Amino acid sequence: MIKVSIVGGSGYAGGELLRILLQHPKVHINQVTSRQFAGQPVSLVHPNLRKSTDICFISLDQLRKCDVLIIALPNGVSMGLMNRFKNLAGKIIDLGADFRLHNQVNFTRWYHTVHAYPELLSDFVYGISEVHREEIRKAKYVSCAGCEATVSILSLYPLVKNELIENEVIIDAKMSSSQAGMRASLSSHHPERSGVVRSYMPTGHRHTAEIEQELSGLKVGISATAIDMVRGLLVTIHAKPKKNVSEKDIWNAYRYVYGNEPFIRIVKEKSGLYRYPEPKILQGTNYCDIGFELDQHTNRLVIIGAIDNLVKGTAGQAVQAMNIMFGIPEALGLTFTGLHPI
Ligand SMILES: NC(=O)c1ccc[n+]([C@@H]2O[C@H](COP(=O)([O-])OP(=O)(O)OC[C@H]3O[C@@H](n4cnc5c(N)ncnc54)[C@H](OP(=O)(O)O)[C@@H]3O)[C@@H](O)[C@H]2O)c1
Repeated sequence: MIKVSIVGGSGYAGGELLRILLQHPKVHINQVTSRQFAGQPVSLVHPNLRKSTDICFISLDQLRKCDVLIIALPNGVSMGLMNRFKNLAGKIIDLGADFRLHNQVNFTRWYHTVHAYPELLSDFVYGISEVHREEIRKAKYVSCAGCEATVSILSLYPLVKNELIENEVIIDAKMSSSQAGMRASLSSHHPERSGVVRSYMPTGHRHTAEIEQELSGLKVGISATAIDMVRGLLVTIHAKPKKNVSEKDIWNAYRYVYGNEPFIRIVKEKSGLYRYPEPKILQGTNYCDIGFELDQHTNRLVIIGAIDNLVKGTAGQAVQAMNIMFGIPEALGLTFTGLHPI
């Protein structure tokens, strides 16, 4: 059994890690930290886990050695603690943003702070398995992607790899409230959040940096809008196809790159309610659904991608990478199909 400890287990990503790993046949959950809830059962904070486990939270200073440490702390926290974490586990998977960018100048530009451990940046492999599987297999340290970055990179990767689109894309992202984490604020207060369609970040989204890093050379604009949804993320990406690119070329690129991928589904039906990707039916699953339409009239390619931000966008992505790092079947613990209707 792989001994896994979770740092920041009382948050939303931590809760999803627990839910997935408690069902994982090769995992023993070693320890789970929370400053606020140390000593209390994890099911106090994550009531869906009642009767699944009687494990209690511990404080950070009680952490002992384990096989892999999965870190679900807010952005900016793990880089200051990483020196200590390295002594606790041979393998580390960080869900936060601190080690996603390989270049410290880029990090400072997008996160407006100086990196606390820049010499470690190059040791982290970016955690999208579909793009970095072989590096993840050999990696000690993995940094999972941001959720907008995950669904955007997966939607665009085959098109960029096969040089089917021009060098600039616009990503229109519809965000759910759980993306902001568990900490309450005025913007998450029910009267302010309920029912919104709110332009959250029309320009300047930090995940731009990750997408540009991973799809080298692509110029990316993200416009993020908060909508009335607890979980899930939908991106509608506008790209310009290169000259003479046909629908068949696009199909072939997706089939060629993703044909054997367990968690990527190309969703493009001719009719029916669910003919394009939709986050609602992905809740709790590790799938990324991708669809597209080629508009001959405007010579525009519209790509649609959907995920559950807390699973494929975070905890599921981490478990998929962990499975690869330990040489066990990649889909272990991640085969939940979702619910319909929901
Ligand atoms: N939410 C998403 O959809 C999503 C998607 C992609 C990536 N991520 C990434 O996943 C990470 C966790 O996100 P989340 O949404 O789960 O956040 P969250 O709900 O706010 O949870 C954060 C966790 O960290 C602990 N914590 C907070 N500050 C700490 C500190 N200074 N030292 C030690 N522990 C601290 C909190 O518990 P205590 O306060 O009890 O210690 C809690 O367990 C973030 O880096 C985020 O970027 C999240």
